[in-house]
Amino acid sequence: MNSFRGGTGGRDSLRQVSTEPADAQVRTIRVGLLGCGTVGGALVEMLGERGDDIEARTGIRLEIGAIAVRSASKNRGSGLSGDLLTTDARAVVADPDIDVIVEVIGGIEPARELILAALANRKPVITANKELLANCGQELADAAAAARTDLLFEAAAAAAIPIIRPLRESLLGEDVSRVMGIVNGTTNYILTQMTELGADYADALTEAQNLGYAERDPTADVEGYDAGAKAAIMASIAFGAKVAAGDVYHEGISNISAADIAFANRLGYQIKLLAIAERFETESGSGASEYEIGVRVHPAMVANEHPLASVRGSFNAVFVEGADAGELMFYGRGAGGRPTASAVLGDLIDAAGNKIRETYHPVPGGPAVPIRPIDDQSSAYYLNLEVADAPGVLAEVAGVFGAHEVSIRSMEQEGLGDEARLVFVTHEATERDIQSTLADLAALDAVHGVGTMLRVIS
Ligand SMILES: NC(=O)c1ccc[n+]([C@@H]2O[C@H](COP(=O)([O-])OP(=O)(O)OC[C@H]3O[C@@H](n4cnc5c(N)ncnc54)[C@H](OP(=O)(O)O)[C@@H]3O)[C@@H](O)[C@H]2O)c1
Repeated sequence: MNSFRGGTGGRDSLRQVSTEPADAQVRTIRVGLLGCGTVGGALVEMLGERGDDIEARTGIRLEIGAIAVRSASKNRGSGLSGDLLTTDARAVVADPDIDVIVEVIGGIEPARELILAALANRKPVITANKELLANCGQELADAAAAARTDLLFEAAAAAAIPIIRPLRESLLGEDVSRVMGIVNGTTNYILTQMTELGADYADALTEAQNLGYAERDPTADVEGYDAGAKAAIMASIAFGAKVAAGDVYHEGISNISAADIAFANRLGYQIKLLAIAERFETESGSGASEYEIGVRVHPAMVANEHPLASVRGSFNAVFVEGADAGELMFYGRGAGGRPTASAVLGDLIDAAGNKIRETYHPVPGGPAVPIRPIDDQSSAYYLNLEVADAPGVLAEVAGVFGAHEVSIRSMEQEGLGDEARLVFVTHEATERDIQSTLADLAALDAVHGVGTMLRVIS
């Protein structure tokens, strides 16, 4: 039997090709939704719009059995039956008629406690909660493993952009060396405005707030905490490592000036806030190959030719490098109600199918991998100094680089009246060496100011 329903021709006839459900008998999976705000509300809408299609394509009827919210009195639009709403989230998790839990409340508690309770009841859980996963991911993964049930979180890393499933499944056999992403739309929007309109940081931030791209308190975005949580999640999946938010080195974009952007552009770079998870091969005492990982978030100069340089506005992208797959880029909407709910819905269909087949996807794991401190990580760097415009200054400055074995790749000088601005791009050096170079440069009488230091990605 074909459970395809609908007219003839056009899109429907295309659909008919793939609508034969594996099991002709439609199975109903009852969903307990925890949270009905931006993401939860969008998920309810999309299930209303696509529930029939999903049923036709998969043989699974996804039915919302209950929705837990904080406030019972809030107006939630006409499409939502008041009978489904409750303020008792624990009762939803414990309800034996609920098969699968979707957590889109956010924050640590009560989300953590509710997810643990759901897993203890052997209910698969789908969550978009990056903060919780980055801080308590291991505890949740252990609980899912003990219950032999799904804990799926595609939406938590880059919302609509599929990156968790490709890393977990498609690239499982790949030797992934680096995952590098623009994973915060707010900061990418601000940096794009600064680049394209020459706007100051403060003006670009105000505009982002007025447009709803940035929160009134923008700290989590502009100081790199949000990107740091996503970096921890991506590193954990890409490298089978246990990485928590506290392991991620982070710097934000609030020190980036319009002048830095102009310099970067002149040198052939775009400034982007990057989340980078990288694997470094090391050798054990016995000569066996081992590895460490570095996880960091900071603004970086990205060469114009790099695919990440062209990611503008509030868009996100994740660039993956593997030994055999080569370079891959995943691009799209990294936030927003419907883009995020789209990823949640994909996970929900997957978990529902697994529930019916009595199977699950184990969260990838492995032994604890040492985290390499930022001081021991290497990069090329951009440095910008204001110096006295006098004979011998350049040699003195170059001597400091040499003393720390930091080699200069390029240098530009610009006259500023009695002073000069020197802009350097170095070859690869360790963070420790570049920081001591900067400290010694700042101590020179001839150096009147040390500007922004940026890592360079080519
Ligand atoms: N928004 C995005 O673009 C986006 C993108 C990626 C990931 N995420 C993640 O998705 C999750 C949800 O984000 P959101 O933007 O949808 O948040 P939101 O709009 O603030 O919605 C949160 C929902 O949770 C409910 N809630 C809060 N405390 C509760 C409690 N103790 N018990 C039951 N319900 C409770 C709220 O109820 P009331 O409605 O009654 O206030 C609201 O419906 C977060 O983890 C976030 O990081 C969001």
